[in-house]
Amino acid sequence: MSNENLQSVLGESRVFPPSAEFVAKARVNAEKLAEMKAAAAADYVGFWADLARKELSWATPFQTALDDSKAPNYQWFPDGTLNASYNCLDRHIATRGDKIAIRYEGEKGDVKTWTFRQLLADVSKLANGLKSLGIGKGDRVVIYLPHSPEAVIAMQACARIGATHSVVFGGFSAGSLKDRIDDTGARIIITADGGNRGGHIVDLKKACDEALTLGCKSIEKVVVGIRTGHSINMTPGRDILWSDLIAGVSDTCEPEFVGAEHPLFLLYTSGSTGKPKGIQHSTGGYLLGAMVSAQWIFDLREDDLFWCTADVGWVTGHSYVCYGPLAGGTTVMIYEGVPTVPDAGRFWKICQDHGVTIFYTAPTAIRALMKSGETFPNSYDLSKLRLLGSVGEPINPEAWMWFHRVIGKEKLPIVDTWWQTETGSTMMSPIPGAMPTKPGSCTQPLPGIFADVVDEAGVPVEGKTAGGYLVITKPWPSMLRTIWGDNERYIKTYFGQFPPTTGPDGREQWLYVAGDSTHRDEDGYYWILGRVDDVLNVSGHRLGTMEVESALVSHPRVAEAAVVGRPHEIKGEAICAFVICKGTRPEGKEAEALIKELRDHVGREIGAIAKPDDIRLADGLPKTRSGKIMRRLLRSIAKGEEITQDISTLENPAIVAQLAAKA
Ligand code: PRX
Repeated sequence: MSNENLQSVLGESRVFPPSAEFVAKARVNAEKLAEMKAAAAADYVGFWADLARKELSWATPFQTALDDSKAPNYQWFPDGTLNASYNCLDRHIATRGDKIAIRYEGEKGDVKTWTFRQLLADVSKLANGLKSLGIGKGDRVVIYLPHSPEAVIAMQACARIGATHSVVFGGFSAGSLKDRIDDTGARIIITADGGNRGGHIVDLKKACDEALTLGCKSIEKVVVGIRTGHSINMTPGRDILWSDLIAGVSDTCEPEFVGAEHPLFLLYTSGSTGKPKGIQHSTGGYLLGAMVSAQWIFDLREDDLFWCTADVGWVTGHSYVCYGPLAGGTTVMIYEGVPTVPDAGRFWKICQDHGVTIFYTAPTAIRALMKSGETFPNSYDLSKLRLLGSVGEPINPEAWMWFHRVIGKEKLPIVDTWWQTETGSTMMSPIPGAMPTKPGSCTQPLPGIFADVVDEAGVPVEGKTAGGYLVITKPWPSMLRTIWGDNERYIKTYFGQFPPTTGPDGREQWLYVAGDSTHRDEDGYYWILGRVDDVLNVSGHRLGTMEVESALVSHPRVAEAAVVGRPHEIKGEAICAFVICKGTRPEGKEAEALIKELRDHVGREIGAIAKPDDIRLADGLPKTRSGKIMRRLLRSIAKGEEITQDISTLENPAIVAQLAAKA
């Protein structure tokens, strides 16, 4: 638990009610919210079942809403069948066929739009193309594409034919891509020649070729889209152009209706071991969570242009670019590039030019844009905006206030949405027309979601300054179903911390442990303080310290490495690595060269997002006599704090002075 964070949230007392104008038109006002919460409190399973019947289109209606006989492997709507792509596209054709589904702007300024009808046709063509390669239900398809409408088309095409997709973020390296492909056992990878980011070309095809030389025995075909047009290698017999795959195929494709529990996708995320986990999501429960949460939180209306800036490679891009808004018939904005090309006004220019009404981004982006000053946002017409959102990490009150004042002109509500890859959709967030917000708090659980704060023994804590582990006390439809190929790890990681108890109805109750620490105030508002495990949150990207450590020790010069986070003004957290070299520790220029080489090595092993900000070469790590690295001490050293902790139990106390001197 970070005391610093706790102190700062306890000191925050500002409250911002929504404007009367917003409340008057809101989809959910305070009265409606109270009604929904009461219905969920009385019968949460019935509450979700009613929504599932009302909001989703089923091929076979379900009879069972929740099967908890194998808890904590819960099944929602298990005997119902549906198709996610049908729910996002086909069912809108009669009423919204010519409405824009996607507005796209490339980093170079190229603009393209798809209506729901056009999107359905493109999805169907690719679905037919994939079918012609023998892909269907039971197969996995890895998608390694730039943030683009094509990525959405690829995801929807997989969903349409019952294939399970696994999107790998385009910023991951060949090594990370290979690990993910091997874990999924995918038969096909859909990639592109490259994408534009930060004024450069990200050479995806090259990384893909490299991954395939490292392993990936399961891959039969590589489907290649053309985005940048730079020269690439095509391996005959294995690689096929997207345009060739769909040439002459029909633009209609019957959706494959699958059981609600059928895995819609796998998405890899970091935990406290060196190996990322393949989080498995369902079709029915996931889609319901993504769709209804989007409607409640973002107050979606027919004429909205909703822009979630997250890449489709992350869960936020899955739930709030590809699935949730489209299932509700909402138009989404997609922008390929970074916020600072050609300058720090790009996001605001896009909001102005396209008429974005709801803008959802990450605190790290807000902090970076805040640093560029107010001239950029003030140079653009942001009058169409009516709601702002934040996700991915705790938003510090200073960034919240800037967002509120400079972008929201002190009028727009801000929804700070807390959730995780594992939760599938937002768990805690303001419902903007129904409650006041407080800068830095994700406020309260959504209707149908039940959270609590517990101590080390799993006992709920109460009181104004009480903090503890954030737990979810009841299953919810969009929850992860398992870790792909490792159900034991699923149970141990998320439900293993506290033994199940027996509820009043005689059923087992399991606490889902989120891995975050939190504080809950007198209004029942939650303030997320950060992770309690060895997971870092760098610019809203989740990375395991062990993952970075394994990448470092795979370098021939490294004997041992320990990685910790330290606070960073823009990224939230920065990565600090302590490295013990094999042989003599280099100094001066030689040390500088090795540090650079190690940073690049981590970039190659995992991806640029994992490159350590600081690398310190040392002769040893602070260890207890039992050989455990004292990470708490390393965190203090990384922050440059004076060491006041008792180091007498260390095996090698002298090392602390060496590490600290290098700060
Ligand atoms: O620590 C929490 C933080 O991000 C973690 C989940 O990361 P990931 O699975 O990559 O998903 C990010 C996008 C949903 C959480 O355990 N986190 C996410 N949103 C917030 C947050 N911390 C504080 N406030 C948030 N709004």
